[in-house]
Amino acid sequence: MKGRIDMIDNKEIEKSMEIKLDKYLPEYPEFERHVRRAPKRDLTLTRREIELALKNALRYIPEEFHEEIAPEFLDELFTRGRIYGYRFRPKGNIKGKPIDEYKGKCIEGKAFQVMIDNNLDFDIALYPYELVTYGETGQVFQNWMQYNLTMKYLEELTDEQTLVLESGHPLGLFRSSKNSPRVVITNALMVGMYDTQEYWAKAQAMGVANYGQMTAGGWMYIGPQGIVHGTFNTVLNAARMKLGVAEDGDLTGHMFVSSGLGGMSGAQGNAAKIAGGVGVIAEVDESRINARLEQGWVDRSFEDLGELFGAAEKAVKEKKATALAYHGNIIDLLEYAVDKDIHIELLSDQTSCHAVYDGGYCPQDLTFEERTKMLFEDKKGFKKLVDKSLIHHFNLIRELVDRGTYFFDYGNSFLKAIYDAGEMDISKNGVDDTEGFIFPSYVEDIMGPMLFDYGYGPFRWVCLSGKHEDLIKTDKIAMDCIDPDRRGQDRDNYNWIRDAEENALVVGTQARILYQDAEGRTEIALKFNKAVRDGEIGPVMLGRDHHDVSGTDSPFRETANIKDGSNMMADMATQCFAGNAARGMSLIALHNGGGVGIGKSINGGFGMVLDGSERVDEILNTAMPWDVMGGVARRSWARNENSVETSIKYNENNKDTDHITIPFVASDELVRGLVKEKVK
Ligand SMILES: NC(=O)c1ccc[n+]([C@@H]2O[C@H](COP(=O)([O-])OP(=O)(O)OC[C@H]3O[C@@H](n4cnc5c(N)ncnc54)[C@H](O)[C@@H]3O)[C@@H](O)[C@H]2O)c1
Repeated sequence: MKGRIDMIDNKEIEKSMEIKLDKYLPEYPEFERHVRRAPKRDLTLTRREIELALKNALRYIPEEFHEEIAPEFLDELFTRGRIYGYRFRPKGNIKGKPIDEYKGKCIEGKAFQVMIDNNLDFDIALYPYELVTYGETGQVFQNWMQYNLTMKYLEELTDEQTLVLESGHPLGLFRSSKNSPRVVITNALMVGMYDTQEYWAKAQAMGVANYGQMTAGGWMYIGPQGIVHGTFNTVLNAARMKLGVAEDGDLTGHMFVSSGLGGMSGAQGNAAKIAGGVGVIAEVDESRINARLEQGWVDRSFEDLGELFGAAEKAVKEKKATALAYHGNIIDLLEYAVDKDIHIELLSDQTSCHAVYDGGYCPQDLTFEERTKMLFEDKKGFKKLVDKSLIHHFNLIRELVDRGTYFFDYGNSFLKAIYDAGEMDISKNGVDDTEGFIFPSYVEDIMGPMLFDYGYGPFRWVCLSGKHEDLIKTDKIAMDCIDPDRRGQDRDNYNWIRDAEENALVVGTQARILYQDAEGRTEIALKFNKAVRDGEIGPVMLGRDHHDVSGTDSPFRETANIKDGSNMMADMATQCFAGNAARGMSLIALHNGGGVGIGKSINGGFGMVLDGSERVDEILNTAMPWDVMGGVARRSWARNENSVETSIKYNENNKDTDHITIPFVASDELVRGLVKEKVK
């Protein structure tokens, strides 16, 4: 049973490749029992497609092992829904080590290895054995063969080559130049007519698509800290907008209720606490509560709703900042609040509704364990329960909103899931979902107008030396670049970075997040590069979440406050990606579906390795402003007021180099009058 394509046999193929997996079969691993495992994924393949899946996975493996490994891969496909190639996972925990401990021919090749390993760390990744970093389904690679092969390529990568990754698969090294990206990543970019969850699930099971979420597949996830800052900004600004908190005030004496203590949602309790308030978060999976308790991001956990609300209301009264968890379903918690007439000021939800039928949302009346079992045994019945729960959940929120609660969607496709479950009352125009929903998304009301439209977004960095003292030095450099009196947002960011060390936010590599605008990001980046040049700190990896000003086109989230009709387009995210490549960012990524699910967004990000060189200064000077201002310019063209203001200032300050087209604004009266005459 020899494999061959026409006249070419596997011997020739093997001979032609210098970079390939080692020629031995590692032992089958033991799975550590305390490590969370992904539920079985939907397997919807036909017999022919199952054959393809198997042949596709075997493409990485030398022929002499095929007979032994093929039944194992097939078994994985049937028991886990995907072929992960567990046998090829390195033994034990994987950690992002100091950069000098990696092999490589250029600094970027070594830096990316740090980032990849950090994304797969037991302390960071949601399902480390299944290469899922966060958001239920967000994977770094599809399988462990891709991990190993990519690490080998990164060891060989020179500063005149580019490594191409297509949905986790390392396609190969191609010659480029010193100022080209070293790695170009795309994930799950499906052709329009196949751009649905169903086709994607097939493509992933066949081993040709990877759902990279945002930073998982873009290797830029830095643990939940990344999201604590965004959540901190969101709850603070929500309180200012809706609870009458002063510009320089915080969440002291206010309660924020939500659900989810997972990858990103795990930030919620701590963010509310850092903002001075009381965070109350429901979570069905006890292991996630325990992880947050150990980490100190949750102070206490409750099984009893009376005790939970007793403690929360006491803390509100005493103006004590705290994070409390409820071990149970958010629907039970809300039912209790409605029945007992408990006033919830700020309310959200952060269950994984982008994967609502794949385990992301636990229906009421099922424990977490029962949910996992039912998902495995009765998917149809499970879907019915999810829909019923979503509609009940919606009705409870509606009741609370009528009593004065401010509810916002947290970018998890929650409102869309309610709509898809058949609840038409959620639709804003009562007809479809094209104009959004009756409740706002956090971007529509808060993040869009107050942050993204000015260019503020989740800038981040990793000190590649792994030294904590480097992180402290970078915090100080960044803080010195912020004028806290310029705007309320600057004050929040200043306070954030000032207190970052004390708030002990680091999980995994020595990383930091700091919301900044175009000017701030450029200045900080240049100062960091100088500090590297001067030998004050080791090399630094800069990056950002894709969830940013320019990086993501996502109508129910990042571009929810774009109202010129262009939020059905993905030009901005694609231009951002291409522009960053053209200017020489070290890593660029473009994904489908991040945050909200396949077909619902296009998003991209970058990584930039600061080696202290003047070459890097040049890239920073052009790429950093572009990475932010491309999005501000688009937001301005959509007539978003704060972006128009920011663009006018940008044109004034950058006369010799840049120029943004700014919209003339037509009078509503004129337009309405004319259209009314024509369209009766
Ligand atoms: N925070 C943000 O700014 C942000 C940004 C992007 C995306 N999101 C979205 O938020 C969602 C959550 O992300 P994550 O990384 O935390 O995912 P996750 O899957 O790690 O965590 C979600 C948690 O919700 C819990 N859960 C599910 N149903 C529940 C229920 N009915 N009651 C109580 N708990 C329940 C799960 O057990 C899980 O721990 C995703 O859809 C993600 O795309 C949030």
